[in-house]
Amino acid sequence: MKVFITRIIPETGLELLREAGIQYTEHREKRHLSPEELIAACREHDALLSVGGNRIDAAFLQACKHLKVVSLMAVGYDNVDVAAATALKIPIGNTPGVLSNATADTAFLLMLATARKAFHMHKIIARGQWGFFEPTANLGMELNGRTLGVFGLGKIGTALAKKCRGAFDMPVIYHNRSRNEEAEQLLGARYVDFETLLRESDVLSLHAALTPETAGQFNAAAFAKMKPTSIFINTARGAMHNEQDLLAALQQHIIWGAGLDVTNPEPMDKNNPLLEMPNVAVLPHIGSATVEARSGMAKMAAENVIAGLKGAPLPYSVNKL
Ligand code: DGY
Repeated sequence: MKVFITRIIPETGLELLREAGIQYTEHREKRHLSPEELIAACREHDALLSVGGNRIDAAFLQACKHLKVVSLMAVGYDNVDVAAATALKIPIGNTPGVLSNATADTAFLLMLATARKAFHMHKIIARGQWGFFEPTANLGMELNGRTLGVFGLGKIGTALAKKCRGAFDMPVIYHNRSRNEEAEQLLGARYVDFETLLRESDVLSLHAALTPETAGQFNAAAFAKMKPTSIFINTARGAMHNEQDLLAALQQHIIWGAGLDVTNPEPMDKNNPLLEMPNVAVLPHIGSATVEARSGMAKMAAENVIAGLKGAPLPYSVNKL
């Protein structure tokens, strides 16, 4: 049995595959595979361990219906046509939970960095522009007691809310497709409708999945309802915000600041004006980039491959078959 792995992954995953007697091929070049290349590689293998948002669409699945499992080393599966995979009885696995803390840390980092203009200040020093002390310059905002609004209060949103309550005593409001009563009890979180979330959040952080409904949901109309003092944070998927509308909202002081770990498109162009704005902090999609999270993700992705190749149910499954 052989699995094709689309990127170099941590040893924890490879070790498990070797122990299970599974051969693997890693695509070690630092470039995205074209759909044709991915299909050609998968034709030589029994399973796919996919890293980095390869399009697992109906055309790919049709061409590779021999695959016994598609295992994503990611929690998000917006790149997969799950209905098509289910119809072809191809199990899809993902890696939930293990990256929640790392991703919540990234959102927390962006929130604080934006509030204190930290990335901009770093650039000022590097450019030799650290001038004399001015009591009225470089002023950020304090987060203590500000309202955290979470769009999608699942594992990652809950981890962020816990940190914000502990560090800054921030009241939590949230909007979800369905109520999260456990989190309501744990955090005293208040469920609100989408409009109220926009209106009342001081920091609005996205943690929902990218779906046709959430794509582009944070657009000019949404930003217009937010507070002029608010901070927008996205560590979920760049396609959930309209980046031109976000730029305009910041330039016109409709909102105060933004922290992005995901951009639209990715990678962000180096000349993007957002990168020059003091109240903006941008990271290159490193939400889960810790040793702990990535080792755990590689292990879970390998466990899914092993189960799938045995014809057993996946331990971390997207489409229960
Ligand atoms: C995830 O796990 O979904 C990360 O965003 C990596 O794509």
